[in-house]
Amino acid sequence: MIKLITSYVLAATALTHVSAQSFVSDPLVDKVVPYTAIPYQVDQHTADRGPQSGYNICNSTTENQKSMCQTSFINHIDDFCLFAPPEPDSTIGDTEGIEVAWCTKKGHGTRLIPEGALQGIQVVQSPGYIQVVGFIDQTKLNIVAGDYGGELDSGGQDGRGNPIGGLLYTNAFPSNNGNNNSYQQSRRWTYFIGGNMFCAKACDDTQPNAEHLCEHIYDRIGCAYNAPNNAKNGTFEVCEGDDMTPVGQYVVNGVTSTWFQPDATVSITSIPYTPTPAASSNCVTYTSSALYTDLATSGSSSASATTSASSGRGTSGTATQSVAGSSSTGASNSANALGISIVSGLIGVFSSVLMLA
Ligand SMILES: *[C@@H]1O[C@H](CO)[C@@H](O)[C@H](O)[C@H]1NC(C)=O
Ligand SMILES: *[C@@H]1O[C@H](CO)[C@@H](O)[C@H](O)[C@H]1NC(C)=O
Ligand SMILES: *[C@@H]1O[C@H](CO)[C@@H](O)[C@H](O)[C@H]1NC(C)=O
Repeated sequence: MIKLITSYVLAATALTHVSAQSFVSDPLVDKVVPYTAIPYQVDQHTADRGPQSGYNICNSTTENQKSMCQTSFINHIDDFCLFAPPEPDSTIGDTEGIEVAWCTKKGHGTRLIPEGALQGIQVVQSPGYIQVVGFIDQTKLNIVAGDYGGELDSGGQDGRGNPIGGLLYTNAFPSNNGNNNSYQQSRRWTYFIGGNMFCAKACDDTQPNAEHLCEHIYDRIGCAYNAPNNAKNGTFEVCEGDDMTPVGQYVVNGVTSTWFQPDATVSITSIPYTPTPAASSNCVTYTSSALYTDLATSGSSSASATTSASSGRGTSGTATQSVAGSSSTGASNSANALGISIVSGLIGVFSSVLMLA
């Protein structure tokens, strides 16, 4: 119940920020920005949501815990970044447009993720994308305890992305031939954070299905649907995987159907399928101490965990309530606090099922 009430409160908060914004003629998702030609700010708009809050050129002078770098990476389990708020005690709903990069490693001109923030990480490399799912202490990343967060992506309500002007690069795609020093932009990526979890997926634009593998029209149904996974809290692993079935697609009696998330004003009372993670193999596990040697010493943690909401990993009852709950409040196709409440519930359900199996 605490979880549900929290979700309603946060959704209401997020909703106050959702107003009609005109969709730009030069959306972020269409901006081809080679790593060697990154501008100071990739977003030049000033209307509606205002100018880009940070910058994209990041270097040794911007590498500190106040960095406003908005250029992120997903390279390897020991080398990735998360987008999270610049100031303590924030909700994702309130700060979706201004998130900044926090990385596991020095060298990207960003903040460093604090020690103790990463509690379990699974990286899955598939033909079409690299996906990172993690269990986190979100208070160490400036996200207030109990916030179920929402979706950040290269789309956004106005096409400017969340964060506005957020860029994402990787050296993990096959086209890179294992060259760690050559970065390819991912223009299609999705990312959910909140509820002490995150899931990030960078799709390879050179592959045919990037748009659907990194679909961002399903912001209300969280990681369980957008990045089906079997990540385990406390485990740090890298796996190879098949591409997931695009979000919304499911097969009944050999017939493929597509479910679409309804308009924000419409309740999601049920979803006609339960997502399953794509097949994975060759998982290699690591110890976190071996992986993360550059983390910032803790101290930026603000809120102590005062709510039990985050530990209320869902029973199926909770998940159903959350899904139903999201319906009555809902938000636009942008970040939405409720997305994550569902995520958390459904991942919880899924983990329980796995553990029983
Ligand atoms: C380092 O990054 C800052 C912020 O983007 C930029 O103003 C500065 O010119 C950069 N310095 C170099 C040497 O590129
Ligand atoms: C690339 O980086 C990863 C870790 O980030 C490392 O395991 C791998 O050995 C590196 N590859 C090369 C060719 O240096
Ligand atoms: C993950 O495990 C840590 C350490 O046991 C725990 O404190 C945290 O609540 C767990 N996270 C989630 C989301 O269950």
